[in-house]
Amino acid sequence: MRVTIKDILARKGSREKITALTCYDYLTARILDEAGLDILLVGDSLGMVMLGYESTVPVTMRDMLHHVKAVCRGAKKSLVTADMPLGSYDNPAQAVRNARRFMKEGGADAVKLEGGARIRKQIESLTAAGVPVMGHLGLTPQSASQLGGYRVQGQGRREAEAIVRDAVLLDRLGVFALVLECVPAQLGAKVTRSVRCPTIGIGAGPKTDGQVLVTQDMLGYETKVSPKFVRRYASLGAAVRKAAKRFSEDVRRGAFPAAQESY
Ligand code: KIV
Repeated sequence: MRVTIKDILARKGSREKITALTCYDYLTARILDEAGLDILLVGDSLGMVMLGYESTVPVTMRDMLHHVKAVCRGAKKSLVTADMPLGSYDNPAQAVRNARRFMKEGGADAVKLEGGARIRKQIESLTAAGVPVMGHLGLTPQSASQLGGYRVQGQGRREAEAIVRDAVLLDRLGVFALVLECVPAQLGAKVTRSVRCPTIGIGAGPKTDGQVLVTQDMLGYETKVSPKFVRRYASLGAAVRKAAKRFSEDVRRGAFPAAQESY
């Protein structure tokens, strides 16, 4: 059975936490889907992870759609959420048009937008059009330069209050879930208590209703230092490098292919 928006809403306050990972391609979607992830998020982090950009800023609708389609081909059960890239939701009409493209052309189940009161009208229009919306507050990478870079948000009282206010507003506007990125654990807990929708944390402590990570971080593709909130469950970067080296060595010394690998 496919995970539905109703299933996600039902996890609010439940002991069974929501599990989400980013996903950008077909094969990974199949594997994560088989692993039982609730949500596959086609994040605009694909700008850095898949396309080698410095930030999410250059990512386009075209880039996103390409990856959303691939993920939807692989996901049979997980709920697929497409991240709306910077410049794709500047006004309500544009937001609805692009969200519909994600659903109709891409096959996504829902969309995610970054921001609070600033995008109130867009969220109102999307929910009125029947588009399931996931909110995103705290560290919002599309506006990282305005926020002083990739740093913990909501550390001061006023900043924290503003995040709680925005969360309550998004909740009232009908988001089905709220991503909280890089905020103190106490604030993650406070927002979670203040809203009816489930919260999904990334660097927001253990009290949110679910957790999300960038898959490649979680799999240890990078060997360089990653954010404090990342837990590495594998060391795929090192494993891939080692396998590629062994392949090259075998080819160079004539050990691959062998007779049983030849027609
Ligand atoms: O783009 C992304 O991957 C995200 C998650 C990290 C929440 O927005």
